[in-house]
Amino acid sequence: MDAPRDVERPWPPAVIHGRPDAPHFAALPPLALYVHIPWCVRKCPYCDFNSHELRAGLPEDAYVDALLSDLEAALPSIWGRRVHSVFIGGGTPSLFSAASIDRLLSSIRARVPLVPDVEVTLEANPGTFERAKFAGYHAAGINRLSLGVQSFDPGHLAALGRIHDADEARQAAEMALAIFGNVNLDLMYALPGQTSEQARRDVAQAIAFAPPHLSFYQLTIEPNTLFHRNPPRLPDDDSAAAIEEVVHEALASARYQHYETSAFAQPGRECRHNLNYWRFGDYLGIGAGAHSKLSFSDRIVRELRYKQPRQYLEQAGQASAVQERNPVSREDVGFEFMLNALRLTDGVPAALFTERTGYPLAIVAHPIEAAVRKGLLESDPTVLRATPLGRRFLNQLQMLFLPDRRARGEAQPVAWSP
Ligand SMILES: C[S@@+](CC[C@H](N)C(=O)[O-])C[C@H]1O[C@@H](n2cnc3c(N)ncnc32)[C@H](O)[C@@H]1O
Ligand code: SF4
Repeated sequence: MDAPRDVERPWPPAVIHGRPDAPHFAALPPLALYVHIPWCVRKCPYCDFNSHELRAGLPEDAYVDALLSDLEAALPSIWGRRVHSVFIGGGTPSLFSAASIDRLLSSIRARVPLVPDVEVTLEANPGTFERAKFAGYHAAGINRLSLGVQSFDPGHLAALGRIHDADEARQAAEMALAIFGNVNLDLMYALPGQTSEQARRDVAQAIAFAPPHLSFYQLTIEPNTLFHRNPPRLPDDDSAAAIEEVVHEALASARYQHYETSAFAQPGRECRHNLNYWRFGDYLGIGAGAHSKLSFSDRIVRELRYKQPRQYLEQAGQASAVQERNPVSREDVGFEFMLNALRLTDGVPAALFTERTGYPLAIVAHPIEAAVRKGLLESDPTVLRATPLGRRFLNQLQMLFLPDRRARGEAQPVAWSP
């Protein structure tokens, strides 16, 4: 009998499962649950999140009912899958009482299996902090708190239209750490009129609390915000770069790992929920304006829920909270994966591309070659990781993966940030 002969194997392997233009998944990605609460005491002038100033009373009970109907209607699309993290974001979820958060979480648990060590984060504004309420959140099962501090400087807080002062921010940070331990503080830099010295004081104050996680976002002026209509004087590009350097150096000296563009963590304390976005995991988003990305054996689907709270309340009550549902095309999926994964300082293993998109890496071979040639992407074939130059010019690197149709402006990129 003839010995088996070596055959020349084409790379990537030419195994085509199902339709050649459809993705194929051996296993589905990890699943996260995002819950959006769309109200705030006051709308901040820089904020383009789906958040609405509270004018009348808060329809707390009706909204929790709507979230649960929304979740019930979505159950068939996540059947049999376990949820690895829950993130209650906004808006200002800390406007809700501990009893409402307790009802929400216990009803989620009754409907969806959560992994035993599930990370459950709630976003809070220091202007809504009361010890008893936050202890109640903890008792309800919130095990991570993300506090929107923005700055500890009274002048900057006022210019940002925040509802809290610097003392309230400090007290909230202290209490959050005492109650939850697992805390993130959000701060912004390159604020109107900010000097490097002021930024250094902000970062030093944040580090002094020793929170396990810190997010530092460069203030951006977004369309449809008050700052866009009435722009403040921001530091110029050179000053903003100098401020960023001060912030990053202080965090590195305090041994925070800069693991994503704007995220810093003590070793092992990265935000699991956000890591799942950046690694192109799946997420079901419920609540007004929430986005979802869900994989099935032969397709990836994106969903968007009704954005206006009143309309969402009506639609969710009729089990039809989803306003748009679109498949992610083969043309777009490479760009969407890279847009997220390249934000991570360590990048991702190259094999994750196929695991999470359902397509061979070969579909992005040309932009990868171009990015390596330009010195923006590491040449190591086992990882997809931006070089230090690529991290500095992340936007240009990501744009190399943009399909021609998107480059013509026919669709918006979908990355998770901040
Ligand atoms: C939904 S908010 C967080 C929680 C809460 N709503 C608050 O503001 O206290 C998420 C974070 O995004 C950041 N952010 C919002 N708008 C931004 C902008 N235009 N530029 C940079 N960061 C921004 C802020 O740091 C904010 O804390
Ligand atoms: S930054 Fe936070 S508190 Fe301010 S409007 Fe946006 S979501 Fe609300």
